[in-house]
Amino acid sequence: MRQIRVNLNGGYDIFIGDTLSGIKDFLTDSSKVLVVTDENVLGCCKMPAEAFEGAETFTFVMSPGENNKNLDTYREILKTLADNGFTREDKIVAFGGGVVGDTAAFAAATYLRGIKYISVPTTLLAMIDSSVGGKAAVNFEGYKNYVGAFCQPQAVFINTDYLDTLDEKEYRNGLGEGLKYYALIGDSVDLPLYAEKEKLEDFIYDCLSYKSMIVEKDEKDSFERKILNLGHTLGHAIEEDSGYEISHGEAVANGVLMMAESSFRAFRMSRNDIEKIRNAFIKTGIEKVGFSSVDDIRKYVSKDKKIAADGDIDAVLINAPGECGISRMSIDSFIDYVAESAVYNPYSDN
Ligand code: GLY
Repeated sequence: MRQIRVNLNGGYDIFIGDTLSGIKDFLTDSSKVLVVTDENVLGCCKMPAEAFEGAETFTFVMSPGENNKNLDTYREILKTLADNGFTREDKIVAFGGGVVGDTAAFAAATYLRGIKYISVPTTLLAMIDSSVGGKAAVNFEGYKNYVGAFCQPQAVFINTDYLDTLDEKEYRNGLGEGLKYYALIGDSVDLPLYAEKEKLEDFIYDCLSYKSMIVEKDEKDSFERKILNLGHTLGHAIEEDSGYEISHGEAVANGVLMMAESSFRAFRMSRNDIEKIRNAFIKTGIEKVGFSSVDDIRKYVSKDKKIAADGDIDAVLINAPGECGISRMSIDSFIDYVAESAVYNPYSDN
């Protein structure tokens, strides 16, 4: 069993391993628990009954998918809490992937001005990224994550056995976000292949140790935390451009690769280092994609919600695996910087 302490808001622990029965230690002060989950998770993942020993347990099952991370689902969760008399002493357990986690966390952040929640992620993407750091949000009128709060969980329980239930596409979704951590942390990170289960706990530990260190410095995304957006400006654009056919992690991995290729072209990265990033990208098994024109990049990047009030963008640049930095630049400079690497060129192998 591995444990990471996140020193934020009184502190909380991330438990990695076969630890789910430990949930009950966090329920001693609550009489009621609402488990928020979705139909897919319910069909394939079980929680040990002893985890909820002594608590009156309710379950809210949402429909799966990003489209259901919305105000209607949020409202239904609030109604379930209120109709069943949940008080500030009671808790939510978010049991699922990023969509469940974000929606449940936002309900916890706002019900009665905030109740505690425990996160039990079941996808690789949620295990290495979204279950930690307290970003809680739902989508609103086509705007992704526009209504939300920062609200740290009371504890995070990660059991990699749940990853056995993921198909390869969903696994790649997580590994794509994992490429971001490889680029941020460096060579010490070993991206585990679908079948390399024995490496998963180390990998998750490495990603979350890094993420915890960053969010401790900057919970509210004022500066340091923006480093976690490496590959995300282009990644979000790729996701949207594909009509969400390309998953978040697959898009982010392409975004990371495009940022690395741009650095190489700008003589900021050595040949040796770009080869490392290219090889890590190949290892994820994610298909390489590109934009069809610079105008396409501009269309999506201009409405990125990370754009500052002065219209500039905090780009995360990468010089080598483990050497990344935030650089504020105009949207035009950003587009110039990435254009050659991000626009699909049938005559190039990039
Ligand atoms: N997923 C990026 C962050 O939590 O800031």
